[in-house]
Order: sequence, then structure tokens, then C-alpha cells
Amino acid sequence: MTAQTAEWAHRPRCDQTAAWAMLGQHFRQDGAAFDLRQAFTDDARRFERLSQPAPHVFADLSKNRIDAATEALLLQLARECRVEAHRDAMFAGEPINATEGRAVLHTLLRAPRGAQDGALAAERAEVHATLDAMLAFAETLRADPHITDVVNIGIGGSDLGPQMAVLALDAFAGSGKRLHFVSNVDGHELAAKLKQLQPRSTVFLIASKTFTTIETMTNALSAKRWFEAQTGAEAPVDIARHFIGLTTNVAAARAFGISTTFGFWDWVGGRYSVWSAIGLPLAVTIGAEGFRAFLAGAHAMDEHFRTAPLESNLPVRLGLLDVWYRNFHGFSSRCIAPYHSALRRYPAYLQQLEMESNGKRVDLSGQALGYGTSPVLWGEPGTNGQHAYFQMLHQGTDVVPVEFVAVKKARHDLAGHHPMLLANALAQAQALMQGKVDQGGQKDFPGNRPSTFLLLDDLTPASLGALIALQEHRVFVSGSLWGINSFDQWGVELGKVLAKDIEPRLASGDTNGLDASTAGLLGRIRTI
Ligand code: F6P
Repeated sequence: MTAQTAEWAHRPRCDQTAAWAMLGQHFRQDGAAFDLRQAFTDDARRFERLSQPAPHVFADLSKNRIDAATEALLLQLARECRVEAHRDAMFAGEPINATEGRAVLHTLLRAPRGAQDGALAAERAEVHATLDAMLAFAETLRADPHITDVVNIGIGGSDLGPQMAVLALDAFAGSGKRLHFVSNVDGHELAAKLKQLQPRSTVFLIASKTFTTIETMTNALSAKRWFEAQTGAEAPVDIARHFIGLTTNVAAARAFGISTTFGFWDWVGGRYSVWSAIGLPLAVTIGAEGFRAFLAGAHAMDEHFRTAPLESNLPVRLGLLDVWYRNFHGFSSRCIAPYHSALRRYPAYLQQLEMESNGKRVDLSGQALGYGTSPVLWGEPGTNGQHAYFQMLHQGTDVVPVEFVAVKKARHDLAGHHPMLLANALAQAQALMQGKVDQGGQKDFPGNRPSTFLLLDDLTPASLGALIALQEHRVFVSGSLWGINSFDQWGVELGKVLAKDIEPRLASGDTNGLDASTAGLLGRIRTI
């Protein structure tokens, strides 16, 4: 145990700190009645004070219900909870994922070659050897004129990250390959996809950290059967050339019949794995150079998180804001509003990142927490959301902080669209805050509804890398304050076990030991 881990291990629980008590008092005195409009009137420099540049991302925090006093107390909370020591322990490769006895080193995946890190030199060398091999393969695939389609079969972190990034960076796609993603065990998804494919011109990437996830294994097996059935009557086709494994479980991939695999390590969590071999679909899309720029953007954010003082550290400020809203204001959800259609899977990606990481109810010693943790994240790209649920955001009874993402530069030349898109993003944030008094009743907007505005100059591999790393670190900060393990996910296990029990009952009709509702539904399903 290093000094950092020892220091963090002896931190107090967040709700037992002096800062927590003072934040409660501050909330009761000033926070509950805080008015954003008044705050801007009182402080002409509020925007400057509460905006924060970070690598590739500019953040305006000024439309949030915080002031200098709130931030000072939140920073005190971070210090009392030893967030810096915890952060340093993560970067140093300490086994901070205690329930699984693992280090948490996704930051190493984007650390440049040759940096000095003594204890992690061996891991770094392996990371770079694998990255070089994976990127060389991506370039070979890009240059292969016989391959037109690449299908990623994976789920959760083995799907959401690469899919989100491939869509986000479509403007940088230079491979001419069609990328597809199949995740759901629902056969409708794979069957529809297979209809569009020719086996000889298709490569399947079987992406699974464990190579045991039932959805991925079922889809992979069906894809393999389809491939064999389609090519069986013709001249033999080398299956190994068309099925590639992205996994830490090379033995299982070999047993499946895969000979080319790209590996990663148990210290890369599934939802943090887009930077590893799991990022191969992105590397095929944007090429090796683009993928290295994606890693470099994330690394720039890592350095910011690792070295910037807490008061000007964007992931820290966002993570603290999340705790302020969740635990003192009682806001239980956050709307993610990317004003860029290429970021359409960004809300789904963030759902796993935040909710699988911080959706925990006990602390590291297994004691129930007396306070809330992960908010519910949800959202759609703007302007679509405006014509669906923004009504509730403006006039509903619940306050939902909104996190906008906008990009200054457009990568199309359709006149007028981009200024209109950006104007809408600004207008929604403004309307949420300012509100409007009309004739009372239906037409009134209460205003004072908080939002954060993240602004990128351009949506590039580097800026996307930085944006995603920012989100990873802000989730780390709130999870650290809450004293939970943000890096395990035991909560997904029970459903998997029960599904295994139920599946054979669908055929046999055996309802022994089932609750009445499950038994009743099973019976009805069997009548079809
Ligand atoms: O559903 C839980 C989970 O373990 C996620 O954390 C993970 O991203 C996903 O399943 C897929 O796991 P694997 O990459 O091992 O197939």
C-alpha cells in the first residue's frame, strides 16, 4: 500500500465531514433559495469566474446554482475526503477496485510511450506493443479491397464506446468500410444485419473482455454458423481471417476458432475500454493516426485532472457539482443534451459510464450509505429533445440539471443550419435559467433551472478523446466522494443467473419455485 492509498483508506465518510455539515447549513441558508438571475445581477464577472477551460473543452458552469461559498465548501469536502490521494492511487496503479482486487489503469492506455513511470514500465511496454499491433491490423484491414463490411459483436462497454466514437467521428472516416454494431441477444438485430452482408467481404470483430457474455457469445456463434452455411458449398473460406477476437480471454477465443486476437488487461474496466483493443472499430474508421490523436486528447485531459489545482480542475468541479445537486438539492437525474447529431450515442454511452460506475448503495466496507449516489442520466441530441421532453424541463415539477455539449465548427456546408443549431442550444440554456413571466398560469416559465454548457471548437478525434476522459474523471470524483467502488458492477449478476434458470423453463413449462408473476407470464408466453 502506497502513501496515497493509505491516506485515502483513512478518509472519513463524506457525510461525516465538517464540510458536509457546513454544506447542509449553506444549502438551508442560501442554496435552497438560490436564484441564478439574481446571481448574475450581483456579480458582473460570474461568467468569467465560473467558466473553466480544460484541454479541448471549454465549460461554462455559471448557470448552475453555485457561488464562491458553495465551491469553497465543495472543495473542502474534496480535501477532507482525500480525493487527490485517491486520484493519485489510481494513476499509480494501486488496486483501488478493491472488490475485484484490481488496479484501474485505463489512463495508461493513452499515456505516451517513453514517459517515466517506473513501477508501470512493464505494463506501458505491453500497452504500446498491443496498440502498435492493433493499429497495424486496422491499417491492413482499411487497405484490403476485398473487405467492405466490419461487424462489431459486443455489448455494454464492448459496444457503447466504440459505437459512440465511430458515429461521432464519421466526418473523419476514410476507410470506405461500412461499420456495423450488433449487441442485443434479440435475434432480430443480427438477422436484419446479416441480410445486408456478404460473408466473403465481411469481418466480424468479437469484442468481449471476458469472452463469456451470453449475448455476445450467442451472436458470435450465430454469425459463425451463418458464415459457414453461406460459404460451405463454395471453395473453402478461412474462418480465422473473418473472425477477430478483442478480449482478455485469449483461450476462450481460440476455443471458438479465432486465431487473431488483440488483448487487454483486467485493469481495464469494460466501460473504460474504448482506448484498448476494444477501440479497433474506431481505428478502422479513422485510421491509426486518428486513433493516436483520440488517445492524445484523452491524455491531455488526464494530465489536467492529475495536475491542475482542485479549484481549476474541470473534472473535479463537475464531480463536486454532481454531489451538490444529488445530495443537497436532491436532483435525481441529469439530462444530456448534445447539440450535434454525430453525438447521438453519447447519452447512452454516459448512461453506462455513470450509472454502472456509481449506481451503488454500499460503501467499500459493505455498509449501506445514508445518501444518494448515481443520478439517472438520459437524453437525446438537440434540437430533437426540444420537441419531446424539454416541456418538462422548462415547466415540470422536477428540476433536472441539463448538460449541453455544442461544437463551434460544422463539417458540412449546408447554409444556415449550424448557426440555427447553436442558437437553439444557447436559447434553451438561457430559457431554462431566465424563465418568463407571462400572464400567469400556463404560459409562465419559472426559470432558475440549472445547466452546464460544454463547448468544443471542433469534433475531432482529439476533442472527443478529451470529452470522454473528462466524463470518466468526473464520475471518478463523485464516486470517490461517495466512498463507493466505481469500478465493479455486481448489480448486473443476479439477472444473468435468473435468465439462465428461466430459459429452459420456457421450453419445459416448469414453474416450480417461481414467483406467481413470473410463472404467470411464462405461462402466457408458452401459449403462443
Ligand atoms: O453487463 C455488465 C458488463 O460486465 C459490463 O460491465 C461490460 O461492459 C459488459 O458486461 C460486457 O462485458 P464483456 O466485454 O466481458 O463481454
